[in-house]
Amino acid sequence: MGFLSHQTHTDSFLFITTLFIFVSIHLCLSSANDTITSNTSIEDNHTITSNNTNFKLGFFSPPNSTNRYVAIWYLSDSNIVWIANREQAVKDSSGVIKIHKDGNLVVMDGRNYIVWSTNLTFSTKYVTNISSAQLQDKGNLVLRDDNTGETVWDSFTHPADAAMPMMKITANKFTGKKMEYVSWKSPTDPSSGDYSVSMERLAAPELFLWYKKTRPYYRTGPWNGRTFLGSPTMLTEYLYGWRLDHDPDGTNYLTYNFADPDAFAIVWITYDGKLRMAKFLNQKNFATIDISPKDCDFYGACGPFGNCDPSSKPICSCFEGFEPRNVQEWSKKNWTSGCVRKKEAQLQCDRLKNLNNNSNNGVDEVQQDGFKVFNNMKVPDFAERSDDDLDNCRTSCLANCSCLAYAYDSYIGCMFWITDLIDLEQFSIGGVDLFLRVPHSQLATGNKGRRVNKSLIIAIIAGAIGIVALAICAYITWQKWTAKQARK
Ligand SMILES: *[C@@H]1O[C@H](CO)[C@@H](O)[C@H](O)[C@H]1NC(C)=O
Ligand SMILES: *[C@@H]1O[C@H](CO)[C@@H](O)[C@H](O)[C@H]1NC(C)=O
Ligand SMILES: *[C@@H]1O[C@H](CO)[C@@H](O)[C@H](O)[C@H]1NC(C)=O
Ligand SMILES: *[C@@H]1O[C@H](CO)[C@@H](O)[C@H](O)[C@H]1NC(C)=O
Ligand SMILES: *[C@@H]1O[C@H](CO)[C@@H](O)[C@H](O)[C@H]1NC(C)=O
Ligand SMILES: *[C@@H]1O[C@H](CO)[C@@H](O)[C@H](O)[C@H]1NC(C)=O
Ligand SMILES: *[C@@H]1O[C@H](CO)[C@@H](O)[C@H](O)[C@H]1NC(C)=O
Ligand SMILES: *[C@@H]1O[C@H](CO)[C@@H](O)[C@H](O)[C@H]1NC(C)=O
Ligand SMILES: *[C@@H]1O[C@H](CO)[C@@H](O)[C@H](O)[C@H]1NC(C)=O
Ligand SMILES: *[C@@H]1O[C@H](CO)[C@@H](O)[C@H](O)[C@H]1NC(C)=O
Repeated sequence: MGFLSHQTHTDSFLFITTLFIFVSIHLCLSSANDTITSNTSIEDNHTITSNNTNFKLGFFSPPNSTNRYVAIWYLSDSNIVWIANREQAVKDSSGVIKIHKDGNLVVMDGRNYIVWSTNLTFSTKYVTNISSAQLQDKGNLVLRDDNTGETVWDSFTHPADAAMPMMKITANKFTGKKMEYVSWKSPTDPSSGDYSVSMERLAAPELFLWYKKTRPYYRTGPWNGRTFLGSPTMLTEYLYGWRLDHDPDGTNYLTYNFADPDAFAIVWITYDGKLRMAKFLNQKNFATIDISPKDCDFYGACGPFGNCDPSSKPICSCFEGFEPRNVQEWSKKNWTSGCVRKKEAQLQCDRLKNLNNNSNNGVDEVQQDGFKVFNNMKVPDFAERSDDDLDNCRTSCLANCSCLAYAYDSYIGCMFWITDLIDLEQFSIGGVDLFLRVPHSQLATGNKGRRVNKSLIIAIIAGAIGIVALAICAYITWQKWTAKQARK
C-alpha cells in the first residue's frame, strides 16, 4: 500500500515534471518563433511565423529569379505583402536577417555586408539586447526598443506595394510627410517600379495613383465619409470598410477593415498600374479582382475644361461656351490641350478687368455672371475648401472673380476652384452637382443643367402636344356645332 502509494506519487511527480518541461519548451519555442532577438538570426532556410500562423517572414525568390529577398507573406509566398531589401537583393542563399549590434534590424549577405537596415539610432548605453522584432498576427513586423518597451519601427508604416486591413495610408497636412505604396518594377523584379499610391489634396483628401512619382495617373476624387466622389463604380469593391481619420498633429490617415473577422484582403498596385485585390475567407483565396483604369479614368483625359463622358462618342467634349484650344489636335482625338472659353462667352469678371470701373455701374446688375449645374460629375482636381453652406458657397464663389466653379457636399462642405478645371467626368450615377460659372448670356438660354434641360424639353413637347390636341378638339367641336347649326 505504502509502496504503491509511493509509486503513484513518483509517477505523478514524473508526469508533472515532464509536462512542465514540455510546456516550458513549447512556450519557449512558440514565444521565440515569431520574434527575432539579438540571439536569434534568421538564415536563408529559416522562417519566423506569426502566432496565428497566417504570416511568415523569410527569404524568397520572385518568379524566374534567383535573387533572394526578405519578405513577409500571407499563407503562401505567392502572397508577398512586404519586402525589406527590395532595392538590393542577396545574390545567393548566404543571407541572414538579424538584430545588428547597434540595435537595427538588418539584412546581411554572406560577407556581412548590410544590404538593408531600419537605419535607426539607438541609445548606445546598452551594448547587448537593445531591441527585438516581432511578426504580429496582423502581418506587421514591429521593432521594439527593449529598454523603453517602445515601438521604434514597423513594416506597416514602411509599406511596399501591398495594403492590408489595419494598415494606414497617411499624409500630414503640416509637415507634408506622406506614406507611399510603390509597385514592383516587373513581375520578376520587386525593386521600386513606375506606379505609386499616396494620399493627396489634404483640404479634401483623396488617393492618387502616380506614374513615375510626378505624373498623376488616376485620382479617386475626395473622400466624403462614405465613398470617394470620383469613383462611383470603379472602386466600390474596394471601398467596403474604409475610414478616414486624422490625428491632432495633422496626420490624415485612411484605413480599411472588415466587419467579418474571418475576412481578409490584400490590395496590390501592380507593376503596370493596375489594382489587384485578393479576398480571402477563412484563409481560402476565393477571389482575385484586377481593376485597370480606362478611358475617362486616366487623369485629365480631356484636358483643361474638357468633359469626359464614357458613354458618348467621342468621349471628350468642351463645356458650352468653350471650344477646343487646338482644333487640329482635338479632331485627331488628342485631347491633351483641352478647351478654352470662347471670346463671345467672356465672363463678366474678365470683361470688367478691361473696362473703366466707373462706366460700369448699373451694367453690373444686369450682366452678372451665373452658374450652370452639371449633375453626376467627378469634381475637378485642385479643389479649395471652405466651411460655407450651400448658399454661401454660391455667394462667395460669385463674389470672387477667380472662382470658376463650386460644388457642395454635406461631409466635405464647400468646394471651389480657382485654377483651370481638370479631370472632370460625367457619371451616369454618383458624383456631385458641379456649378460652373458662366456669363449672363449663357444663363439667358434658360438652361439649368442636363436634367432640368431634359424636363424642360419634355414640358415644352407635352405642352405643344396638349395645345395641338386642344386645337383639334376645338376644331372638331366647332365643326360639329356648325354642322348642327346648318341642319337646323
Ligand atoms: C517556427 O515554427 C514553424 C512551425 O511551427 C517551423 O516550421 C519553423 O521552423 C520554426 N522556426 C524557428 C526559427 O524555430
Ligand atoms: C542571449 O544569450 C545570452 C548568452 O547565451 C544570454 O545571456 C542572454 O540572456 C540572451 N538574451 C536574450 C534576449 O535571450
Ligand atoms: C540552414 O543553413 C545553414 C547554413 O547554410 C545550415 O548550417 C543548416 O543546417 C541549414 N538548416 C536546415 C534546417 O536546412
Ligand atoms: C498565441 O496563440 C495561442 C492560440 O493560438 C494563444 O493562446 C496565445 O495567447 C497566443 N500568444 C500570444 C503571445 O498572442
Ligand atoms: C518565367 O519564365 C517562363 C519561361 O521563360 C515564362 O513562360 C513565364 O511567363 C515567366 N514568368 C514570369 C512571371 O515572368
Ligand atoms: C538606410 O540608409 C542608407 C544610407 O543612407 C540608404 O541607402 C538606405 O536606403 C536606407 N535604408 C532604408 C530602409 O531606409
Ligand atoms: C534583455 O532581454 C531580456 C528578455 O527579453 C530582458 O528581461 C532584459 O531586461 C534585457 N536586458 C537589457 C539590458 O535590456
Ligand atoms: C497631343 O498634343 C500634345 C500637345 O500639343 C502633344 O504634346 C502630344 O505629343 C500629342 N500627342 C499625340 C499622341 O499626338
Ligand atoms: C478698378 O477697381 C479695382 C478694385 O476694385 C482697382 O484695383 C482698379 O485699380 C480699378 N481700375 C481702374 C481703371 O480704376
Ligand atoms: C478669391 O479666392 C482665392 C482663394 O480663396 C483668394 O486667394 C483670393 O484672394 C480671392 N480673391 C478675392 C478678390 O477675394
